[in-house]
Amino acid sequence: MHTQVGIDVEQAALLLEQGELVAIPTETVYGLAANALNAQACARIFEVKNRPSFDPLIVHLAASSDCEAALASCARVIPDWALKLARAFWPGPLTLVLPRKPLVPDIVTSGLDTVALRMPAHTLAQRLLERVPFPLAAPSANPFGFVSPTTAQHVLDQLGGRIAYVLDGGSCRVGLESTIVGEQGGRPVVLRLGGLGLEELENALGPLTLATSSGASPGSLESHYAPRTPLYFDDLGYRARGLSPEQVGLLLFRAPLSEVPPDQQEVLSMSGDLNEAARNLFAALRRLDALAASRGLRAIFTQKFPERGLGRAINDRLRRASFRPA
Ligand code: TXA
Ligand code: MG
Repeated sequence: MHTQVGIDVEQAALLLEQGELVAIPTETVYGLAANALNAQACARIFEVKNRPSFDPLIVHLAASSDCEAALASCARVIPDWALKLARAFWPGPLTLVLPRKPLVPDIVTSGLDTVALRMPAHTLAQRLLERVPFPLAAPSANPFGFVSPTTAQHVLDQLGGRIAYVLDGGSCRVGLESTIVGEQGGRPVVLRLGGLGLEELENALGPLTLATSSGASPGSLESHYAPRTPLYFDDLGYRARGLSPEQVGLLLFRAPLSEVPPDQQEVLSMSGDLNEAARNLFAALRRLDALAASRGLRAIFTQKFPERGLGRAINDRLRRASFRPA
């Protein structure tokens, strides 16, 4: 299959109506979208991504000022906390997990009684969602376990030839997957840290608990978001591992290290802006991974980012991407 790349919303809509897959830009990362109400089309998402069937998809909704109606299109129950969050942060990098309505196919939710819902804040994605008469199921548009794509080229690099169309919306503004909030024991809990800071959620709801990574959600696997090259998180001790400056890549927050060749280092935000760092994170990981392959770098070493704002989610992703000896 030849994968086309463009900004033709009409063509993307026609393909989705025919049950094809289209990669779509969102403010967080690119998604691999199908008609969420078409079980067969959604099954192809799992095939193309090589995603295990126990890892459910996020359903993307058209933007509307009536969040309650939007939620009610797929959710059977809408707790107060969820409506409050939707009103405060939608469209935006926040996903809500709520009891599902029967019209959402089993394959989308991996058979769970809940569905993950999000209203993305991206003009092209929204034009597409307004154009089609159904919501779009979309996980991140990468093979299962790999780093999420934040440009159309990233999608092509990994899924080119396997999907019909990539809707090119440029570089993703947030750069990290959405924050996911669900309910446990009648209270909201954070199932995944992401593109909406914990502080902002807590400003709206008061103190929140984070679900433990194992129990959080079916897809919150411990090892995930990984480059091919071994990555050490919160560890710049390459010498202690017997490596020379020429053999390593570095992922740093604000400033490079003098002893490692400059082109083997990715500095995510010279000005110390965690939003900028988040925006640059996945592309930087991909560049270091590619450099490791072409130049024989042995490992990537990373700093720990400040545990505030998007720094929390950056640390979460790097921790999951990090190397664990078998
Ligand atoms: O920003 C994002 O969230 C992007 C864009 C495309 O919207 N999507 C995304 O999807 O990152 P991804 O690949 O992370 O997959 C969705 C995740 C699952 O791995 C799982 O952790 C969670 O959403 N999820 C989906 N449905 C769920 C449910 N019913 N209960 C708990 N977690 C759920
Ligand atoms: Mg993903």
